[in-house]
Amino acid sequence: MSELYPVPERLLKDPKPYIATFDEYKKLWQESVDKPAEFFAKAAKEYLHWDKPFQTTMAGDFLSGNIAWFLEGELNASYNCVDRHAFATPDKVAIIHEGDDPKDVRKITYNDLLQQVCRIANVLKSLDVRKGDNVIIYMPMIPEAMVAMLACTRIGAVHSVVFAGFSADSLYDRIVDCEARVVITADEGKRGGKFVATKRIVDEALSKGIHAVDRVIVCKHTGTDVAMTLNRDLWWHEQSENARPFCPTVPVNAEDPLFLLYTSGSTGTPKGVLHTTGGYLLEAAMTVKYIFDYHPEDIYACTADLGWITGHTYILYGPLCLGATTVLFESTPTYPDPSRFWNMVDKHKVTQFYTAPTAIRALQRLGDEWVEKCDLSSLRVIGSVGEPINPEAWKWYYEKVGHSQCAVVDTYWQTETGSIVISPLPGATPTKPGSATFPFFGIQPVILEPTTGEVLQGNGVTGVLAISKPWPSMARTVYNNHYRYMDTYLKPYPGYYFTGDGATRDNDGYIFINGRVDDVINVSGHRLSTAEIESALILNSDVSEAAVIAGFDDLTGQCIHAFCTLKPSVTSDPEQLMKELVLQVRKTIGPFAKPKAIYVVMDLPKTRSGKILRRVLRKIVNNEHDQIGDTSTMADEGIIHHLIAMFNRHNANIRK
Ligand code: WT7
Repeated sequence: MSELYPVPERLLKDPKPYIATFDEYKKLWQESVDKPAEFFAKAAKEYLHWDKPFQTTMAGDFLSGNIAWFLEGELNASYNCVDRHAFATPDKVAIIHEGDDPKDVRKITYNDLLQQVCRIANVLKSLDVRKGDNVIIYMPMIPEAMVAMLACTRIGAVHSVVFAGFSADSLYDRIVDCEARVVITADEGKRGGKFVATKRIVDEALSKGIHAVDRVIVCKHTGTDVAMTLNRDLWWHEQSENARPFCPTVPVNAEDPLFLLYTSGSTGTPKGVLHTTGGYLLEAAMTVKYIFDYHPEDIYACTADLGWITGHTYILYGPLCLGATTVLFESTPTYPDPSRFWNMVDKHKVTQFYTAPTAIRALQRLGDEWVEKCDLSSLRVIGSVGEPINPEAWKWYYEKVGHSQCAVVDTYWQTETGSIVISPLPGATPTKPGSATFPFFGIQPVILEPTTGEVLQGNGVTGVLAISKPWPSMARTVYNNHYRYMDTYLKPYPGYYFTGDGATRDNDGYIFINGRVDDVINVSGHRLSTAEIESALILNSDVSEAAVIAGFDDLTGQCIHAFCTLKPSVTSDPEQLMKELVLQVRKTIGPFAKPKAIYVVMDLPKTRSGKILRRVLRKIVNNEHDQIGDTSTMADEGIIHHLIAMFNRHNANIRK
């Protein structure tokens, strides 16, 4: 399909990679899928500290949906990520915080981290937060966000981090769904020189309706004045100063929840994906070690937000479980200028750098000089995640950032998989631009014929991607809705975990991810559901119906196109209405969900039974007017011409 890149020389020495040949990878992978219980039992003992050993390595299956790993075992995530390293290497830097202003750098050692985590854990205990309670964290990218997460896990509480780009409405929905009593936030966030009023958004969310929150902990970050509600709001620093820097860990069962993370699915309400403790932590650590070829002296940097799964697994749990130094990046790729990432790599001598294709594409556009003036010789492994990376961006990343001497790891995974499931190994896998290559240990991917569900054997096949055996870090349920978990992942193709993505296995056996086949849209690696955006649009009283679909965009990968019909009585100015609709989506979901285009149309393409044909809309916005396909089930085929004409007019207006 595309050209093959051998493993760069640089990867084979100093330090020597853990897996140094493709044959070695294949042998280990085979072992891991032939004897998963033996493979992962051994790993679990090696990577994790257990307060009580497990007896049963794996149980359950996809048909029953009762997957469990390391049953009877007890452990604590905070102990595994902090205490044991604070004893062994107290002065090693755990977190390098690269603040929004490049001059603001904070280094936190494992010993400092332990004390801070203990203090906040004690604060939570004093507020009567107990094992199994859900705590909402709505914070900027500051070390205190990581402290808050670890403090929860220390006492067996379950964190649910909400990305600070979500609106008050979205935050409120999550607070209500997980029945949180405590919210942890900061006065303000800062990104690219702009301020985000996190505390004000929390106040707004809490004023929306009924909820169980009676305490809000507020961390001072920018120092701006914020309104504090009496008997509810507490300052982080005051509470923390008064708390003891020692707090015992609460061992939990391997299958007790570690965290909830809300993500968009194909219906209107986001689902609380639930990860448990043992299996998740194990694979978070193992994937950092093997996929980033992490060695103890390395400085590891992932630029994701803690509010997404990538931040959970690859800023916090994976690296800290290994006792690594992890960089927490608060800013944007272009602030104060497009050298920001590369200056950071140069400054901290970063060895592994992990980011998203949308950032790579944006920087590629701005010109090579921004990369060329920085010394990137410390880098060994550079990673990409969140959406398919186009070969041009891959090559630019490989050549300009990696100087053709770094391994590019295109890592495929999802919120639900917990950790990377398909990726090259730096020292072992020859790569192909655009391919996530081969499965990680324990993962058996299959490509299925979408309608029959038949397994497509051999190479040179395209279909939907599924996984045929449970793995330790997979999500166990959807919070309070196991039915939805079964329905989304395990029922569509019985006996398999369904990813929702399309994939191709090329003639050499390399896996290429082709993007979502369900109603999930991926904008700059942020996941949104068409139904969620449609629900936001019809909140406007002028809108009768809405249909949202994904278009292609050079920068963001996919982008949102929304079609709306109006109620008959509406007389508002169309320009004004479109502005209102954009605002409506920003307000209901968050600024990152802003549609690229909204079209007000006479009617939507529908079947005779009234089902909206999104496929037709997709062809129209992606300029495939001649490939609309079968329209015989449509109620009114004439609508297509109207839609095409309207679409062309819209584009002509934009060009003007
Ligand atoms: C969806 C999951 C967990 C990563 C952050 C996003 C897409 C992710 C790749 C990749 C092609 C990718 C898939 C997947 N995706 N990584 N390397 N190549 N597509 O997590 O929000 O749960 O989204 O992101 O479509 O299903 P998420």
